[in-house]
Amino acid sequence: MEVFGEVNVKFGRAVRSQWRLDEEAIFLNHGSFGATPIPVLEVQAEWQNQLERQPVYFMERTLIPALRFAAEALGKFVGAEGKNIAFVDNATTGVNAVVRSLNFEPGDEILTTNHVYGAVRKALAYVADCSGAKLIEVAVPFPIEDPQQVIATVAAAITDRTRLAVFDHITSPTALILPIEALIQLCKARGIPVLVDGAHAPGMIPLQIESLGADWYTGNCHKWLCAPKGCAFLWTSPERQATTHPTTISHGYGVNFLEEFDWTGTRDPSAWLSVTAAIDFQQQLGIEAVREHNFQLVRTAGAMLAERWGTSIPNPDAMIGTMVTVLLPPVQNLASLHRDLWDDHRIEVPIIPFGETGWLRISAQVYNEFWEYERLAEAVAGYMKGISV
Ligand SMILES: Cc1ncc(COP(=O)(O)O)c(C=O)c1O
Repeated sequence: MEVFGEVNVKFGRAVRSQWRLDEEAIFLNHGSFGATPIPVLEVQAEWQNQLERQPVYFMERTLIPALRFAAEALGKFVGAEGKNIAFVDNATTGVNAVVRSLNFEPGDEILTTNHVYGAVRKALAYVADCSGAKLIEVAVPFPIEDPQQVIATVAAAITDRTRLAVFDHITSPTALILPIEALIQLCKARGIPVLVDGAHAPGMIPLQIESLGADWYTGNCHKWLCAPKGCAFLWTSPERQATTHPTTISHGYGVNFLEEFDWTGTRDPSAWLSVTAAIDFQQQLGIEAVREHNFQLVRTAGAMLAERWGTSIPNPDAMIGTMVTVLLPPVQNLASLHRDLWDDHRIEVPIIPFGETGWLRISAQVYNEFWEYERLAEAVAGYMKGISV
């Protein structure tokens, strides 16, 4: 395999034509919504065509076996049995299905960290407000030096009233891979059920969901697995399936877990059915090669940005996958920086306020190249000069 520095040259511009990304865009934000390759979108369109050729036959006879086939294939990819996997629209829906299936009482505690994704925070606040439970957000240090710091802060926040723990596998604002196995063990030893929000994990890091020992694990396939938008799953341990319900109750209620989740009303299931195409696409690129490329690129690009701006990377390499946050130089107006990067430079990258300061989160996907991050370095430096005159 040919390499340039540490970066595989068969990727970058050589594969970018597989995506519909704007020619002029420097797209450094795969993490927010993913980006789906054309061959996968073509398979999705074929499913839609098949549905429309005979909608009744498709919904009554084709759909469920095809969904279960897709769940089996996804299960092999994420280390789970297909029968424990329900498709959902997105990780937000997966989280809602779980927390709205549980009964909390006044004084109960729902534990999460301050790195939790905003929409998940709201879902937890909602069930807490409805029941009189308390949402406890433990402050995980950031910058961070060692995953042990996460374990120690969470351990100190568990109480006799903790009824549910919700942990990100990979955090959204800070891009940290949390020590999820240890967190699960910590909670399970105290009899506390655990929901893992793995929105970013499938396709970014190797997964063996069933050996983690969680009660629920939700993940997005439309981010790093590059499936079409609206393709996500909720893995549920067999013990929890009878009491875990979709956010929409339909014909399957009272039958079983899969009947409940596989039909929640008429909808377009093509994103779910295309997950096999997304897995095939990744396998054709070479799953290990993709991960290696993305990890090396994000790491070297992150270090370069921090060096150019005289700032820092807030975590050890062992705690990141294919995204990293970089401390920004002091910027007053983060929203205007984000807007200017796109308007003036066609650079798409998230700017994130967290703690006392502003961070920039870069993603690396196979279509990215190092020069794109250099362009970002210059653009931010230029912005800083512009505001200081
Ligand atoms: C950690 C985390 N959880 C949940 C979500 C929500 O994903 P979705 O909008 O697909 O539901 C995100 C989205 O970025 C995320 O980063």
